[in-house]
This record gives sequence, C-alpha cells and structure tokens, in this order.
Amino acid sequence: MLLSDHSYDDYSAATPFLIALCLRAGLFCYIIIFTMKKFYVIKTFGCQMNVHESEKIAGIAEELGYFVTEDDSNADLIVFNTCCIRDTAEKKILGNIGDVKVLKKKKPSLIVAVVGCMTQQNGAAEELKKKFPFVNIVLGTSNLSELSSAIIAIENRQKKRYDHILNETMPTIDETIPVKRTSGTNAWVNIMYGCNNFCTYCIVPYVRGRERSRDFSVILDEVKSLLDEGYKEITLLGQNVDSYAYENKRFVNILEEIAKLPGKFRLRFMTSHPKDFNSAVIDVIRSCDNICNNVHLPIQSGSDRILKLMNRHYDRARYMEVLNEIKQKLPHCGITTDIMVGFPTETEEDFLDTMSLVREARFSNAFTFVYSPRRGTVAAAMEQLSPAVKKDRITRLVDLQNSITKELSLEYIGRTEEVLVEDLNPKKPGFVCGRTESGRLVNFPGVEADIGAFKQVKITTSRSAALWGETYGE
Ligand code: SAH
Ligand code: SF4
Ligand code: F3S
Repeated sequence: MLLSDHSYDDYSAATPFLIALCLRAGLFCYIIIFTMKKFYVIKTFGCQMNVHESEKIAGIAEELGYFVTEDDSNADLIVFNTCCIRDTAEKKILGNIGDVKVLKKKKPSLIVAVVGCMTQQNGAAEELKKKFPFVNIVLGTSNLSELSSAIIAIENRQKKRYDHILNETMPTIDETIPVKRTSGTNAWVNIMYGCNNFCTYCIVPYVRGRERSRDFSVILDEVKSLLDEGYKEITLLGQNVDSYAYENKRFVNILEEIAKLPGKFRLRFMTSHPKDFNSAVIDVIRSCDNICNNVHLPIQSGSDRILKLMNRHYDRARYMEVLNEIKQKLPHCGITTDIMVGFPTETEEDFLDTMSLVREARFSNAFTFVYSPRRGTVAAAMEQLSPAVKKDRITRLVDLQNSITKELSLEYIGRTEEVLVEDLNPKKPGFVCGRTESGRLVNFPGVEADIGAFKQVKITTSRSAALWGETYGE
C-alpha cells in the first residue's frame, strides 16, 4: 500500500499506539484463553494394554476440550490408569493417588479419576472411596466409555462423585472410544480382551473378564487406516493372542491378512501362550518379511511341579519343543520371556529347574518377577515362601539372565541390522534409538528427521542389552 507523506506521518505516529493496543488485546485474549484452557494428566501403570487404554483416555479428555500437560499442578483432570498384577504395583499407585490430596486442596475444582484393573478387584471401589474421599471418579475396566459423561457430570456439579464398576464377565467391546495415539512410530491394536486361563497366581481374568475377540474386519480396517496415517509398526495386543477366535478367523489369519497390506511396515504381537503357540504361527512369521522375528513366550517356571500348580497347561518339555522349533525355523528370532520366582511351595530344587531352563533356553531377555499373592486367586491361599528366600532367588536369576543377555549381545557385533528409528536418544545428543526386528534396542548417530525411517545399522558395540552402531552408505 502507498501512503502519502501526510498519511505516512499519521501512520507512524499511530503505529506504537496501535501495536501496544494489539499487544494488550492479544495478551488479554491469550490470558483469557489460557486461563480457560483445561489440562489433563494421565498416570499409566501396568502392561501395554493399559498404555493403549491410556490413549483412549487421552482421546476422551481431548474430545472434552482438555489439553495435555506434564505438570500436575497445572492439571484440571488427573486420571490414574491402574494395575494390580503385583503388590508392588498397587502400593506405588496408592501412594501416588495419596499425593494428589495436596493438589486437590489447592485447587478444589481438580477432577481426580481412578480407572483400570485395580478398581475392578473385589471391594476395591469401596476401599478407594474410604481411603481417598477426594477422588471424584472410579470406573471399572469394561466401562471406560463412561469416563466422558462422568467428567461432564463432575464439571457441571451434577455429582460430587461418580463410581461405577461393571461386574460382567463378558462385557461388550466398545468400538466407539476415540483414541489419541502417543506411541510415535508404533501403533497398538487390541485384537482381544480378557483371559480364560486362570493361572493360579494371576488376577487378570478376575479384573479383565473372559476372552473376547474383536471383529476381524474392524481390526483390519483399523490397521489399514493406521498405515495410511504413516505408522511404521503395528503391535497386536492380547493377553493370549494365539487364542484369538472370531467366526472362522484365527490368529494366523490376522497375521497373514495384515502382512499382505501394501507399504513398508513391521508387524509385532504380544503375548503368546506356550500351550497355544504353534507351528502355523511360526510358519507365517517365516513366510512374511514384515512380521518381526520376535516372540514373547512366558515360561514362568522351569519346574513341571510348579507349572502344574500354576495351571499353565504345558510342561518344560513342551515349552522347549516350541522354543527349539522357533530357533530352528527362525534362527535370528529374539525370544523373550516372563519368569516368576517364589511361587508358593517352590523348593530350591524347583528353582534350580528354572535356572537350568534359563541356561538351556538362552532368552534374549527376560522379565523377572517375585511372586506376590493376589486376593481371590488360588495361589494366594497356599503356603507362602519367606521374603528372604524370594529375594535370594530373584537375585540369582537376574544375574544369570543378565550374563546370557550380555553374551547374546556380543553375537550382534559386526552384523548389519535394519532398525526402525523410534526416538532421539534421551541421554546422548546427536544419537537416535530404535529396534532391530528381533526387538533389540540400538543407539546410533542420527537426527530428529530420522524418526520413523528404516536404517541399515552396523552394530559395533554392546552394553549388556543395548547395542550401539553406525549407519553407512548414506
Ligand atoms: N498374559 C500374559 C502375561 C500377563 S501378566 C501371560 O500369560 O504370560 C505379565 C506377567 O506378570 C506374567 O507373565 C507373570 O510372570 C507376572 N505375574 C502375574 N501375576 C503375578 C503375581 N501374582 N506375582 C508376580 N508376578 C506375576
Ligand atoms: Fe494371567 Fe495366565 Fe491369563 Fe496370562 S494367561 S493373563 S498369566 S491368567
Ligand atoms: Fe496390570 Fe491389568 Fe495389565 S493388572 S498387567 S494393567 S491387564
């Protein structure tokens, strides 16, 4: 725009004033919007199921106009997505909920919700009510969709407290909950919910109900749209993926159909149960390049006596048979496991069976746990071992597995592995991290723009489980 001398003078005189006015108005609007903006924090505990469920909680919160924050003191809504698999998990969560009391005192409008497995245990909702009267919302594992109406009811002061636990063992699968994905290059996809196995130590069947498989076509459509959105890795979730059953479709059918989808991506799944994991699954992994050579196959114990008491429906021989078939057909497959020590009545001899199995199996990695009695489970009523015995056994087991993981890491040195870049290395500037197909974490030089890319990385060093390498030819 051309300005005459006169208008130019007027303009220049008015400019600082106008700018100041705009800035003030802008600042004012910003303050209004900022103070009106509502923030949420989700505190997630437990397994990948819960991690994914927290993405649904985030979807609900954002649909209601909340924005995510890392700062608890800034939050208007705090949701605890809980786990009760072990006593340690539960104690930690109870401590964390207790800490929120101070925030609630400072900001009475703060909405505090407790959802997830812990609430679903017998009498837990009542206990939470007594212990934490400041909590506003308590929901069970199968009525998370009520979170939206519960928050609205509390916001509008129609209710002070919204508690609802559904005790159905076969709750319907709700496909309408919005999902706000937070997992970067990987997208979690539930293929089934619940568990029918009733391992005698485990609370999951009681708090997650019976097995329900999702509609095959709904799963496929979800995966297709995730790949269209640019996700490079899909991880199928279920407590026991091998028992997926929807009409005439089984787990292998899901793997085959997803693997056929176009584009470069990786397919993973967890968890497999040794009683159901079979040759058909191994063969599909072998024949499809995009299904990762990575299997999580929990053993729990190496003692047949204990496996029987655990109600696992396999013995050591069957487990080793499956494991050897995997190793033979998929030579570079990463095999991880879960192992528990201190199950009721476990003798030193039983424990030594576990140690010998670990030596024989040579797992890439193992998640090791100290047995902890869970209320209402069969094993909780059995004779318990002393904490000192459990502590001694877990230390020996962890030491053994660490040394095996370390040895297996050395085998990677000199190999070139395809790595999907997941993130910047949080501790080492100029480095990124990602996983090999077998599930090993690799660190190597890279930048933010590499996230989501597949890189050929030559492994040069290993530090226990983690590998370090360099890219070349770029
Ligand atoms: N569905 C999966 C695992 C679910 S829970 C499976 O069947 O393998 C994850 C792991 O937690 C289990 O594999 C088991 O090793 C451990 N766990 C379950 N209940 C436990 C308890 N009461 N005490 C200690 N560890 C337990
Ligand atoms: Fe728990 Fe056993 Fe079911 Fe796994 S299979 S969730 S350990 S009951
Ligand atoms: Fe915990 Fe529930 Fe998962 S008890 S391990 S969050 S299914």
